Amino acid sequence: MSFTIAVAGKGGVGKTTICGLIIDRLIKLKKIPLLVVDADANSNLNEVLGVEVDTTLGAIREEIVHSELMDPNPIPPNMTKPEYAQYKFNSALVEEDDFDMIVMGRTQGEGCYCYVNGVLKAQIAKHAANYKYVIVDNEAGMEHISRGVLPHVDVLILVSDCSRRGIQAAARIANLATELKVNPKQMGLVVNRAPNGVLDEGTREAVEETGLKLLGVMPQDNAVYDFDCLGKPIIDIDDSSPIKLAIGKLVDSLGI
Ligand SMILES: Nc1ncnc2c1ncn2[C@@H]1O[C@H](COP(=O)(O)OP(=O)(O)O)[C@@H](O)[C@H]1O
Ligand SMILES: [Mg+2]
Repeated sequence: MSFTIAVAGKGGVGKTTICGLIIDRLIKLKKIPLLVVDADANSNLNEVLGVEVDTTLGAIREEIVHSELMDPNPIPPNMTKPEYAQYKFNSALVEEDDFDMIVMGRTQGEGCYCYVNGVLKAQIAKHAANYKYVIVDNEAGMEHISRGVLPHVDVLILVSDCSRRGIQAAARIANLATELKVNPKQMGLVVNRAPNGVLDEGTREAVEETGLKLLGVMPQDNAVYDFDCLGKPIIDIDDSSPIKLAIGKLVDSLGI
């Protein structure tokens, strides 16, 4: 069975950045074959990884709906409608040199997300067994956990910034994961954007109040900001930068 890492937390705390950097580290440690799942409709994990993606589940869904509107008979005569949809969704695997990727992507119109969440769940279930490692960048909040989109999870990384609200949000996700019996082998908090990589007293207290295990503290790293501003892939940051060193320590500590 594949080893699955899921990254969750409040919006804007650094889930996608950290996910991308963990992926970089896993590749360098030759933890392959690796399946990357961008499960956030508003995420840009591909940009962090420096990968162009036009095939997303959302885009395929739009294409199917659109072709139905334009052409009353888009489905090949030897296929049922669900078979045709399945055939199209199966083409959503993006193949890169070091990893493969499934991207949820955006859909238009109300009520579509439920459907695409279902498709995402089915696609993850279908492909995961072909990979030794799977990593999932989740949308903000608890949707995928509450809908059971994730496969079995080995490590659930809850990301927060140094704010109490971020840490409390992480704790709520942890409680939900426990209630829903996600049963990760390891679950804990990663506090991101700590000045100089050091937790201040207030944040440390807030973490202790939640009872969550502190898996790691990631520094505020200006290289992340600079790369973001220039539109350069975050994974290309120098391996000796503070954020990469901290991610290295985190991944090592997980014993993957
Ligand atoms: N350790 C860090 N140092 C500096 N900037 C960071 C760091 N982590 C994240 N950021 C910045 O914070 C913003 C939000 O990060 P992102 O990974 O997109 O969050 P999320 O996926 O949780 O919404 C981005 O602009 C990113 O560059
Ligand atoms: Mg994100």
